[in-house]
Amino acid sequence: MTAQSVHRDAYLDLIKRSITNYHYLGGDGSFEDFRCVTHYDLEQARWKIDPLAKPITLLNKIQLDLIEQAVVAVEQRKVPGDFMEAGIWRGGAIILMRALIFAYGLNGRKVFAADSFAGIPKNVRAVNDPVDNWSDRWVAPIEEVRQNIARFGLLDHKVVFVPGFFSDSLKSLSRERFAVIRLDSDSYDSVETSLEYLYPLVSQGGIVIIDDWHLPGCRMAVLDYRSRQGIRDDIFELGGNAYWVKQQSYGTPRRS
Ligand SMILES: C[S@@+](CC[C@H](N)C(=O)[O-])C[C@H]1O[C@@H](n2cnc3c(N)ncnc32)[C@H](O)[C@@H]1O
Repeated sequence: MTAQSVHRDAYLDLIKRSITNYHYLGGDGSFEDFRCVTHYDLEQARWKIDPLAKPITLLNKIQLDLIEQAVVAVEQRKVPGDFMEAGIWRGGAIILMRALIFAYGLNGRKVFAADSFAGIPKNVRAVNDPVDNWSDRWVAPIEEVRQNIARFGLLDHKVVFVPGFFSDSLKSLSRERFAVIRLDSDSYDSVETSLEYLYPLVSQGGIVIIDDWHLPGCRMAVLDYRSRQGIRDDIFELGGNAYWVKQQSYGTPRRS
């Protein structure tokens, strides 16, 4: 362990504690066990805390560590491409990805941030997805997200915004290549659409992280897509997320 790696790890640890708002909300509990959503009232669709004390990611430490592990793995294996989160809400995971580029000196990589900035749309293709009954659509306007990233000193040309609903916005990315994609858009339609556009753009050896593995619509969208495309790469589960390494160049590009 070098002095440089100690400083890097301390910086990244501080970023993770800050984007989750653990400093303010954590109380006596450990960061390892902290989840900001325990301060959220799902039935009332509101935070049970001072509305100004905003967590800017819903992810917990294990899920944030998984992003770091994926980034380090693709860098070590020289997998080409950028990093993408589709479904960013207030931008916390984007902040971490940008910080990882800085901390590990990954100067050739960028972070793509795709979101409607208007929340989760209702399903059109899927029926009976419980997400359609949520009153909170997890809206965060783009200006608020930009400010969140800027507060960490990390808003620059390496953060590329892709605003709009995935069915409109993601087709503009057909020339991009990704080494890590993180899909966090909750509903069947949104997860399926993001896979259809983004999976073919993932390099061989790239890593796909699925946030909402516990949600039936999300899980079904992933399994349906994998089945249609003949993807048999092993799925691993960690901290409520699922991920796999793209071993072969499956993925028929979506054309419309
Ligand atoms: C649960 S939030 C994401 C949480 C975030 N990754 C974090 O770090 O806390 C889901 C996000 O997905 C976005 N979203 C869902 N479906 C979408 C779609 N079809 N097109 C664009 N954005 C979508 C919503 O606007 C929302 O910001």
